[in-house]
Amino acid sequence: MSQASIGIFDSGVGGMSITREIQSLLPKEQLLYLADSKNAPYGPKGDAAIRALANKNTEILLSKGCKMIVVACNTATTVAISELRSTYKVPFIGIEPAIKPAALQSHSGVVGVLATRGTLASSLFQNTSALHASGITVVEQEGNGLVPLIEAAAFDSLELKRLLSAYIAPMVEAQIDALVLGCTHYPYLKPLLNQLLPEHIQIIDSGMAVAKQTFRVLDEAGLLADQKVLDSEFYTNTDLDLLRKFMQISGCSGKTSFLDF
Ligand code: SIN
Repeated sequence: MSQASIGIFDSGVGGMSITREIQSLLPKEQLLYLADSKNAPYGPKGDAAIRALANKNTEILLSKGCKMIVVACNTATTVAISELRSTYKVPFIGIEPAIKPAALQSHSGVVGVLATRGTLASSLFQNTSALHASGITVVEQEGNGLVPLIEAAAFDSLELKRLLSAYIAPMVEAQIDALVLGCTHYPYLKPLLNQLLPEHIQIIDSGMAVAKQTFRVLDEAGLLADQKVLDSEFYTNTDLDLLRKFMQISGCSGKTSFLDF
């Protein structure tokens, strides 16, 4: 048993789509979330800078005594998780696009994946795709420009609607019946996607699978908490109101603070 916190970081507020699932599956755990909104999006920064940011976030979480780190960002997972695992002793959980459940439930044999350029180009994604979607056609679509609009909570903007409509059109045309959200920011687009997509297309994200994996790893390591001692904590290095807004949308609960990191 361990009452220490589970550390979670993301290039901003998107990782709260993962955090809410962990909080609901593991209510006795104290969570410590770092929203690195100042550096969002990570994707265009290049591999060396993304690794440096992932290391910095990890050091902060470890300095606060975290027993495990969830890298709640697909881009940081693809670029940095191997190095993190070989550098630090705590267990790391990364995010992979949920291709396997999409492939299993697809009737048309065609699934779409909306993700950042870096995630789609990564060997982690290509290997997952080859392993779990053999015999399935995977239609890949880059979601360029979506993360900054989500970070700005611009959910009603014409720009967001225009971009998303343009991105889903080729996938709908290719007859997908499952759409995998391959970026932890994208679950916040579900209300808009539900308006834009034909009804038979299922939207699939990684949140619950990551929460279950978090439980399994903690359980095997004997690190599950047996009671909730302190509130979870959420830190941002930019706008506290934005952080609180996303906590409210996500249904996450805990204390919020500004941290200059
Ligand atoms: C990014 O920061 O570039 C996107 C976030 C993600 O891939 O989850």
